[in-house]
This record gives sequence, C-alpha cells and structure tokens, in this order.
Amino acid sequence: MKVTVVGAGAVGASCAEYIAIKDFASEVVLLDIKEGFAEGKAMDLMQTASLNGFDTKITGVTNDYSKTTDSDICVITSGIPRKPGMTREELIGINAGIVKMVSSSLIEYSPNTILIVVSNPMDTMTYLVHKTTDLPKNRIIGMGGALDSARFKYRLAEALGAPISDVDGMVIGGHSDKGMVPLTAHATRNSVKVSEFLSEDRLNQVKEDTKVGGATLTKLLGTSAWYAPGAAVSGLVQAIACDQNKMFPCSVLLEGEYGLNDLCIGVPVILGRNGIEEIVTIKLSAAEEAHLNESAEGVKKTNALLEL
Ligand code: 2OP
Repeated sequence: MKVTVVGAGAVGASCAEYIAIKDFASEVVLLDIKEGFAEGKAMDLMQTASLNGFDTKITGVTNDYSKTTDSDICVITSGIPRKPGMTREELIGINAGIVKMVSSSLIEYSPNTILIVVSNPMDTMTYLVHKTTDLPKNRIIGMGGALDSARFKYRLAEALGAPISDVDGMVIGGHSDKGMVPLTAHATRNSVKVSEFLSEDRLNQVKEDTKVGGATLTKLLGTSAWYAPGAAVSGLVQAIACDQNKMFPCSVLLEGEYGLNDLCIGVPVILGRNGIEEIVTIKLSAAEEAHLNESAEGVKKTNALLEL
C-alpha cells in the first residue's frame, strides 16, 4: 500500500506521521515544492521509526511527481493555511490553482488512485477536483467531517465531564464556521442520548464551540491546526487501505442524496477499498435539515467563485 501526501507543511507532515505510526502502509511519499523540505521532514520522521516501532518507509521528494507513481491513495494538503481572523473561503483564489495542478499531476502518475482533499475551502476544492479530473466519484473524498466530529466529541466530553471514549457524535455539512451541522440530537454517551445529561443551552454551546473549532485554534496558534487534521486523515486512509467499511462524514459529490445536487458537502459515507463504498442517508430533524440546506447554499456560493 503506497500513500502519497502532497504538502510537507504541518498538516501534511502530521498526516505522514500518523499514517506511519499506525503501520499499515508499506510506503509514504511526502512531496513538497520547497527544495529539500519534504526530504528533511521524511528523514526526521524516519528517525522516529525505531522509537515509535513502525516499518512504513517515508520518502521525501521535491516536486517530482514521478516518485508518486502507482500510489493507492493520495492526500492533498497543499495551499496556504488561514491566518487568525480569516475564513477558509478566503483561501480560494490561491488554493484553487494549486489543487488543480496537484490533482492532475498526481493522476498522471497514479490513474487508479483515491484522492483525499484537505486543502481549504475543502468542500469547494473537492468539487473542483470532480470538475477538472476524470476520476469516478467514489475516488474523490474531502476530509472535514472526521475532523469536525473529533472536535465535537472533544467538546461533548468536556461538557459531560466524561472520557472521550464514552462519547459518540457526528458533524455533517460544510467544513466552515457557519456550515458545520453538529448532530446533537444523535450524539450519545455510551448509547444514551446526550440530551439526557445536558441542557439545551449547554448543547447549543457545544454546537457553537464545535463550529469555530478550527478558528479557535487558528487564533491560538497563529496558523491553522495540524494534529487533529493529520489524525483525521490517517483514519480515512486506514479505513480505505485496510478495507474497514467504516463510517465517517466526508465531503462527497451529491446527486440527489439529502435532496442536494451538484456540490460536495459532508454526509456520512462508508469507506473501504474502493474509497466511498456507499453514501449513507440518515433521518434528520427538520432543524438539522434546514441547517444542512443553508450550509449547502453557502458551499454553492463559494463554488460559484471557481473559474471552471
Ligand atoms: C482545520 O479546520 C485544517 O481546515 C482545517 O483545522
């Protein structure tokens, strides 16, 4: 199993690190445009192998896509991250050109690959890959919901005073401060609905804290986060590589599901060897459905800025 991660910045390097630590891939290629940067990160990571106990071989390359040949899975993290006060949508101008170039270069050397898009604005970048490549829709996956759900679980555990392993919950919708739809009515603590333990006000607070999860970290760090994004990507990559048939919310092309068409947005999917094995349709409350529709409007507005 060969995995390529494009972009050796904090998010890309963290993806490579978590994939390697989980030790399910034979090879990870880390590619960056900055001379020697990916090579340096790869060497540093390889020097953790004996300490962390993994055999995955990590190779760094400077902009040489031929080294990514026959990758089973490629992750695109390239582009600029947001700075404090910026929305993910503001990155579209620069990142669209980068994602278009990177995805076509990857597909040239790995026509059978599954692509995972992380660059922001992620739902729109995922849509851009659909519009500008010939990859079938099951092989184009946007990573946002898995990360947002992890942040949701963190906030739920905090509100409940419970360990995170006791908590389950999912965030669908767009990967944006306004677009995220944390499914509080479906969230549970050890199979009991969290609404049994938390007041409506506290749950609304959890929802709001989840939606600005990335922005809160950007303010603290001065740039966007990397540990949780890297861990979330590694979860998707592992589900595909190990054919786990695991459910994650991912940004995928919708063709009528949830009453939505011609956009990529986060909904629950089953991930396995073929990438998206199935789009799962769950029953939403009227409020959740309205929020998802509003979120879709926002994503479509950003999509309209693409020069296709
Ligand atoms: C975040 O929310 C990277 O978009 C990403 O942290």
